[in-house]
Amino acid sequence: MINDRFLKACRCEPVDCTPVWFMRQAGRYMPEYRALRAKHSMLELCKTPELAAQVTLQPIDRFPLDAAIIFADILLPFEPMGLNLEFAEGEGPVIHNPVRDHAAVERLSVIDGGELNYVAEAIGQARRALNARVPLIGFAGAPFTLASYAIEGGSSRNYLLTKQMMYCEPKTWHLLMDKFARVITGYLRQQIKAGAQAIQLFDSWVGCLSVGDYVEYVLPHVQLIFEGLKREGVPMIHFGTGTSAMLRQMRAAGGDVIGVDWRIPLDEAWEIVGHDTAVQGNLDPLALYAPLPEVERRVEDILRRAAGRPGHIFNLGHGILPTTPIEHVAAAIDMVHKLSARQVKS
Ligand code: CP3
Repeated sequence: MINDRFLKACRCEPVDCTPVWFMRQAGRYMPEYRALRAKHSMLELCKTPELAAQVTLQPIDRFPLDAAIIFADILLPFEPMGLNLEFAEGEGPVIHNPVRDHAAVERLSVIDGGELNYVAEAIGQARRALNARVPLIGFAGAPFTLASYAIEGGSSRNYLLTKQMMYCEPKTWHLLMDKFARVITGYLRQQIKAGAQAIQLFDSWVGCLSVGDYVEYVLPHVQLIFEGLKREGVPMIHFGTGTSAMLRQMRAAGGDVIGVDWRIPLDEAWEIVGHDTAVQGNLDPLALYAPLPEVERRVEDILRRAAGRPGHIFNLGHGILPTTPIEHVAAAIDMVHKLSARQVKS
């Protein structure tokens, strides 16, 4: 591996400068991505390994990022499980047959991963194209976040139907969470076998829960995934947003690296998580719209709070937005590397 500072930071080992990558680093803010999307749908890009690998490398060819993430989506396991998924233009994901009762949850298939072979194939191709320049991250959605899409039928504001199932039909809820946990464990294992050198579990919307509900309705299922993957030996990142109040519990659920969003200062988050665990974050993605001196002030602040301690991976607190100025992305990456450069004793 030519550049392994991301993997080192995941293991809390010292690095020459802070590694940086951005969630959604391959996407619509890049003209080369938009050009491909003009010819292919989102699902076509995901299901054609050559195209998915090509998109994965777009940000790596343009910026000195320290990790690549395979181009896919957390909702891809839905189709083989029996959920009818569509990425509607301008609307985001739509599930045409949402699960709302016990019978619907019973009907969901616990797939073994074979149906998602195209992701494994894309990982193999992306690894070959990367040629050891930077490590490749695999990923999946966490059970709560997947359940919210499966139940609501798309994005949601209040997670009304999700919480309704949780509170009114706890047996049905736990069965659904258990099915997702099993599918995701197998799917991530398959990605690791195909060449993913780290994995990230996205629990993007779990921050809508109280800590008590997290512990009761979510934590055991997430734990099953991390426990099931421990012996694979690759670093595991546990990400959520709006999770400042439940960082301790997320850490208990598992993961070598805990994702931190911008709502909490990085040093406070790291104190809660514990300095023996790595952290990833935590620039507000909207900060990339600020004038460059302001971007620099914020990057500097995060690095100051990380205090040169081993185990910090610089990232946004959530995915990069489609209208983000691309020069600011390039500038932010350079700032992270330059402002954090240090001597490493070997
Ligand atoms: O980070 C990367 O570069 C890898 C690719 C990636 C995508 N989705 C591609 C994508 C990753 C890691 C995801 C994860 C994902 N997908 C999450 C968790 C992270 C998060 O942002 O919270 C969620 C909740 C989804 C579900 C999803 N997929 C939504 C809500 C949307 C629509 C919103 C949007 O940004 O348009 C998608 C579509 C999607 N997934 C796009 C991309 C690049 C946009 C598709 C397009 O080109 O039109």
